[in-house]
Amino acid sequence: MIVVTGATGQLGRLVLKALLEKTSPSRVIAAVRSPDKAQDLKQAGVQVRAADYDRPETLAAAFAGAEKVLLISGNTLGKRVSQHRAVIDAARKAGVQLFAYTSVLKAPTTALMVGPDHRETEAAITASGLPSVVLRNGWYSENYLFRAAGAVKTGVLLGCAGEGRISAAPRADYAQAAATVLTSPNQAGRTYELAGDQSFTLAELAAELSRQIGRPMRYQNVTESEFTEALERNGIPSAYAPMMARSDALSAQGALLETGRQLSQLLGRATTPIGAVIEQAIRAGQIPKA
Ligand SMILES: NC(=O)c1ccc[n+]([C@@H]2O[C@H](COP(=O)([O-])OP(=O)(O)OC[C@H]3O[C@@H](n4cnc5c(N)ncnc54)[C@H](OP(=O)(O)O)[C@@H]3O)[C@@H](O)[C@H]2O)c1
Repeated sequence: MIVVTGATGQLGRLVLKALLEKTSPSRVIAAVRSPDKAQDLKQAGVQVRAADYDRPETLAAAFAGAEKVLLISGNTLGKRVSQHRAVIDAARKAGVQLFAYTSVLKAPTTALMVGPDHRETEAAITASGLPSVVLRNGWYSENYLFRAAGAVKTGVLLGCAGEGRISAAPRADYAQAAATVLTSPNQAGRTYELAGDQSFTLAELAAELSRQIGRPMRYQNVTESEFTEALERNGIPSAYAPMMARSDALSAQGALLETGRQLSQLLGRATTPIGAVIEQAIRAGQIPKA
């Protein structure tokens, strides 16, 4: 049985979708915080089990009979390491044969603010002795859609990434790679640095947006604190705005650039370019045309 935690999240749902294209639903378990959110997964033939990282007592039952577990990193800053430790401990007790974890690009050295949580989690996995595979995911392309939508209104895409190149890929690509890893032999001991094949600067992103919307749009580089303030003015909570601005500033120094193409190797195809992600977001109304 293959267990996926966080299966009702944005990445988790896409992992489930990709897994069901590769294996029978009877082999898949969706381990979720709120089973009531997973009725559709149940209807697709997937076993749904309650698994709350904050309630370790739920995890033993969730992992019973599991051959493989994918831990999708949690989204509660400040609590994630202890949550992840609880999951690792339960997987160890369940005798899981492959433990997969969604980490961050270049976890051992990254200066990104999420780096320490992922480093500590990777170390806990190693210390557990579990046979494991680490999926170090680069930035999601979707992280730029909020800004792209704002740029359509103002004609200006704001940021503090300078000329930094960003090797983003959409969640669906990372999800498909995770499903491949979970259904392929000989994955224990591997670490993948996963990112888009083609990197872009924010100026190039503005140009692509402009081309697709059919109106002039430009990138404006500002300081990190100016960008933080702009994000907060536009409704990003103050707990997240500094982190987003820091990520931008660090991408100016190459923190989000990766040229190893391991994601496309796992996918067996090129990764989805940012232009295609924008096109899809315009079609879905996530980026308004006017
Ligand atoms: N690479 C990137 O650019 C990037 C960007 C943002 C985040 N991330 C990381 O990647 C992860 C997946 O991304 P995403 O877009 O799928 O995030 P997401 O949509 O916020 O999903 C997070 C998942 O974690 C689950 N979760 C949170 N707390 C939990 C708990 N106590 N017990 C059990 N499950 C819990 C959520 O459950 P519910 O469905 O019940 O809410 C949700 O399913 C994030 O959590 C974060 O660690 C990466």
